[in-house]
Amino acid sequence: MKMLYQQMLAFFGVILVTLAVVSILFIRSTTSNVWETSFDQLEQYTDVLKDRAVDSNTYLINSQFIQNSEEILKDQHVHFIIYDAKNNARYPAQAANGGAEPIASNYWKQLKNGNAVALPELTTNPADGKAQSMTIYYKPVFLDNELLFVIAAYAPVDNIQASIKKTEHNLLIAFLLSMLAAIVISYFVARYQTGRINRLRLATHQVAEGDYDVEVKVKGSQRDEVVALANDFQDMVQSLRASQAEIKRQEERRRQFMADAAHEMRTPLTTINGLLEGLAYDAIPEESKGESIQLMRRETNRLIRLVNENLDYEKIRTNQIMLNKQTFNATEALHDIVSQLTKKAQDAGDTITIEAAEEVPVFADHDRFVQVLFNITQNAIQFTQNGTITVRAKAGYHQTELAVTDSGIGMSPDQVKNIWERYYKADPSRKNTKYGESGLGLAIVHQLVTLHGGEIKVDSELGKGTTFTLTFPDEETAPKQAPITYTK
Ligand SMILES: Nc1ncnc2c1ncn2[C@@H]1O[C@H](COP(=O)(O)OP(=O)(O)OP(=O)(O)O)[C@@H](O)[C@H]1O
Ligand SMILES: [Mg+2]
Repeated sequence: MKMLYQQMLAFFGVILVTLAVVSILFIRSTTSNVWETSFDQLEQYTDVLKDRAVDSNTYLINSQFIQNSEEILKDQHVHFIIYDAKNNARYPAQAANGGAEPIASNYWKQLKNGNAVALPELTTNPADGKAQSMTIYYKPVFLDNELLFVIAAYAPVDNIQASIKKTEHNLLIAFLLSMLAAIVISYFVARYQTGRINRLRLATHQVAEGDYDVEVKVKGSQRDEVVALANDFQDMVQSLRASQAEIKRQEERRRQFMADAAHEMRTPLTTINGLLEGLAYDAIPEESKGESIQLMRRETNRLIRLVNENLDYEKIRTNQIMLNKQTFNATEALHDIVSQLTKKAQDAGDTITIEAAEEVPVFADHDRFVQVLFNITQNAIQFTQNGTITVRAKAGYHQTELAVTDSGIGMSPDQVKNIWERYYKADPSRKNTKYGESGLGLAIVHQLVTLHGGEIKVDSELGKGTTFTLTFPDEETAPKQAPITYTK
């Protein structure tokens, strides 16, 4: 069944049951009220007659007074019968002449005990004994504990039933009108609810079809379940959108990586292939053969380095390398690095200096630390001609701070933004220079520093020079390495 009808049925059911219960209670209470009022009236009449129509002392009945009273109450069809102590009718005359039935003995007993009797479920007219629905009220009159008279007041129940019928009729009309109103109201309430759910359904369809830009607007308070559902739905769509974008980004990266890797490998492979062909067809003069072989070895080494660095990068990225961290003297390590690079610096006409205290402790994996600083210093030499390169180290608050400054070609802000990307080279035409040119160095450096829980920053100005600043946290603040998922 459609939700609209389900909701309508639920509302309608609740309203129907409520109305039915209220109506039944109302009819019952008005009916008993009407009966009670009728008996109260009859009781009042008998009270008046007791005082005015019968004389307890002289044992006389004032028939005139009773007739007048009956005349006044003609519209209500109220009549009276007066019984004497022997249960014989004394008034009116035709009743006294045997027209009236005596009071039933069980009621008579109660009357003798001094209790008035009201009979609700009546069938016979006491005046003539004919079957007729009546209300009768018997009132005993005593003198010195002696029963003298019983005054009976009676009226046909037709008028009572008529008033009850009228109430029931009015109630039925009210009931029907309420039902009509209930149908209309429940329809609108149900339509409002299902409208909101349909909007969510529509949005779900859109998302299922790959449209993540949907926005479901459902009005209402935060405590409303449908509003909460809509909000949750919106959050879900947002995270779906984000993961979709991430998948696209990853795909783009993968594609770029494949293209770059292929491009990087093509150059050395073409060179080697060319030289091999030359050798095969004896196209290379004997005296150049040694040089050709040298060139091929360099190119092969370059390829090996490229593959190794890629593997290294992936291992670091996926947290598959184990850092063997310990505290050692950074200054000593820096001296080793610089002495290895002095020759290269001299070739480029650079002066390279170290500014550091004799003992600067650093907490890191020794080999990876050297790899990082070697890369950065080598870059500095590579991009500085006839300039100066300064390598600094000092102990900071819970960390070791290092900096490599050069007075080389520098970088534009745009170039700086990309240097941590794999295969990025500010000058793509630069190929096969002396110190590596794959564009992997800084990507690996960045991963390694991050893995140590440290930071690396770069300040650079085109034509002026570059400074790389690094921090390594000390043993206390360094992060514990996550468990290795795979080690070769
Ligand atoms: N000190 C520097 N001065 C100017 N540019 C720099 C400096 N260091 C890095 N760069 C720029 O950042 C790029 C990326 O450096 P990275 O070390 O990653 O690659 P690479 O040196 O070209 O190749 P390799 O992978 O062999 O190190 C460089 O190509 C260069 O354009
Ligand atoms: Mg480099």
